[in-house]
Amino acid sequence: MSTVDEVISLGGAEMPTLMEQVERLLEETSTGAGPDLQAGASDTLAAGGKRLRPLLVLICGGSRDDRMLVRAAAAVELIHMATLVHDDVVDNARLRRGRPTVFASRGRETATATGDFLFSRSFALLAANGEGEQVKVLSDACVALARGELAQRHDAYRLDLDEQRYLLRCELKTARLFSAACRLGGLAAGRPAREVAALEAYGHRLGLAFQMLDDLLDVSAPAERTGKHRGTDLLDGTVTLPLILAAGRDPELARVDLHAVTSRADAEQLCDRIAATGALGLTRTRATSLVSDAKDALRYGVDAQLERSLADVADRIAARYA
Ligand code: IPE
Ligand code: IPE
Ligand code: MG
Ligand code: MG
Repeated sequence: MSTVDEVISLGGAEMPTLMEQVERLLEETSTGAGPDLQAGASDTLAAGGKRLRPLLVLICGGSRDDRMLVRAAAAVELIHMATLVHDDVVDNARLRRGRPTVFASRGRETATATGDFLFSRSFALLAANGEGEQVKVLSDACVALARGELAQRHDAYRLDLDEQRYLLRCELKTARLFSAACRLGGLAAGRPAREVAALEAYGHRLGLAFQMLDDLLDVSAPAERTGKHRGTDLLDGTVTLPLILAAGRDPELARVDLHAVTSRADAEQLCDRIAATGALGLTRTRATSLVSDAKDALRYGVDAQLERSLADVADRIAARYA
């Protein structure tokens, strides 16, 4: 699941046209605010991305040619883009989607303002649907995201972190936006509450698995595969499940001072030590089990066709990390 086209292929016959509409809206909504903001937003947009969250909105919304649904899908991707631009400032990250981050190429001020701009445009777009409930769903996800990002900074360099705390951070910073994407699709399609709840539970579990796998790739995969530098998490003191599990298996790793990891070479060396403990296999097993829980959430909750499409998305996410 490395290209946008592959992702789009999961959504059925209507999906390419719907996704094109989303792309057009993304382009339209990220212009008209002066050259600096425009440049930061265009950098992020042009760099691509998997468009996974809008895909979830559209599939949960029944893949219908409906302006409200397309707006909701684009609004969610704009929030995702905004959080990535801000996240790279917070995480001190230089590479994203295979290109220099807005933070790296244009500086902290422009990156902060670009993120704010994308957030604002997202809410204006969603408000055009005239549905207060949709705006609230997205707002709640953004509040969770902000809390998650702060919690992560608060936990930085702490190797005594437990799995429960790690999972809470994954929930706040990633799973809530996934479940919001599914809820927004369900709401836009006018699905009954029972179905919307099943979709939300699916999104939540898939989001947890997705973050866990992203954290795994941060340790294991080269930039050519992820578009991000390997070891970025370790370099800014972010402790994730692979390191938590590795520290439990290797007492020397449990005593490592992450402040001493100051170069990309240091970070890559520590990645190799984490991998040597077998912690990556364990992390992958946890994530695979969450993917299976996500698919279970759909059983009896939604119709068979929707269940198949969403199970396909979940399987492809898991397979990407094989
Ligand atoms: C990256 O998300 C941020 C996480 C929640 C791990 P994606 O991996 O979906 O990023 P893009 O949109 O494809 O670049
Ligand atoms: C997810 O966490 C970030 C957001 C939810 C904004 P990461 O910090 O792991 O995401 P990447 O690896 O930078 O994409
Ligand atoms: Mg990051
Ligand atoms: Mg990451």
